[in-house]
Amino acid sequence: MTVLYTGIAELVTHDPELGVLTDAAFVTAEDMILWVGPASAAPAADERVFLGERAVVPGFVDSHAHLVFAGDRSAEFAARMAGRPYDGGGIASTMAATRAATDAELRALVTARVAEMRAQGTTTVEIKSGYGLSVVDEARALAIAVEVTPETTFLGAHVVPPGIDRADYVELVTGDMLAACAPHARWIDVFCEPASKHAFDGDEARTVLTAGRAAGLELRVHGNQLGHGPGVTLAVELGAASVDHCTYLAPSDVDALAGGDTVATLLPGVEFSTRSPYPDARRLIDAGVTVALATDCNPGTCYSSSMPFMIALAVREMGMTVAEALWAATAGGAQALRRTDIGVLAPGKRADFTVLDAPSHLHLAYRPGVPLVVGAP
Ligand code: NIG
Ligand code: FE
Repeated sequence: MTVLYTGIAELVTHDPELGVLTDAAFVTAEDMILWVGPASAAPAADERVFLGERAVVPGFVDSHAHLVFAGDRSAEFAARMAGRPYDGGGIASTMAATRAATDAELRALVTARVAEMRAQGTTTVEIKSGYGLSVVDEARALAIAVEVTPETTFLGAHVVPPGIDRADYVELVTGDMLAACAPHARWIDVFCEPASKHAFDGDEARTVLTAGRAAGLELRVHGNQLGHGPGVTLAVELGAASVDHCTYLAPSDVDALAGGDTVATLLPGVEFSTRSPYPDARRLIDAGVTVALATDCNPGTCYSSSMPFMIALAVREMGMTVAEALWAATAGGAQALRRTDIGVLAPGKRADFTVLDAPSHLHLAYRPGVPLVVGAP
């Protein structure tokens, strides 16, 4: 069945030929886009839907989220606002709560968080493990995640859990844990952060990523969040799809990103919620680096599931234009997940869009905190 959508004050396509259309229309067949153009030239279809003179944008692609967790760390957030720095040490408390939760409890928590994201216009979400940190608990986190998204990431190398030697843990992650988790995961990730005594250094990260690739997983990296380090250059060298955070970048990191295929995914909710300096998006974009935006939704550094909030922060705090931020939150996220079917509204792409109760996409940053998303298909 074909559907003609009209009543579109502004359609942001992210297609180089189509650009941004005003008074636009598009036609879908099942979940694919067949036609996009001016309303005056729209072809007939089986059904017609009037969108009320609103803006339509590609569905948000949240390419970085940690949704499989139990417990509450609001007190840690409050302590941070009072001056205590973040170092990743709180992950162990989430690990304990997550291990203690039943499968049904974890599934309900993940389902509720995904619904919260959808209500804010996110149509694609990546979900990481990383709060189980044992063979059984990492595997069940991924088994639950893969029920709601194909974009699942094995993050056994989040931190070294208490009570185990570092080298032994890296051996476990790259051995039995990887074997148990790989069937439920598309990606492998590592928290490469020598500045944190809980996370992994460059050599350990290389070991984890290389083992993951040998097991058939594609690569992504948490890098350069808390300080300068090897995460960004390692990600580019190994051809990771994305390196995420990129808060502390040396000139050589920017050069490496500009010369490689790895997307720099910025997570401004983390800087907001840890009261840290924001990454320099302008410097990256001006150097020709592909930039994505994501929430990093997690109980420690950013418990926000809102892509519109990330767009507003990127514009207000990171020197991005609204158009750049929207691109990064949609087409950029798609590239960070190596997806060519989403992030762009054009014939042959998925009918994966979000309707805003606003006349233009500018309102995403102009009206921060206001729930503008009317719906996603
Ligand atoms: O992406 N940096 C590492 N991991 C998460 C935070 C995890 C936590 O504190 O619970 C992040 O920011
Ligand atoms: Fe993260």
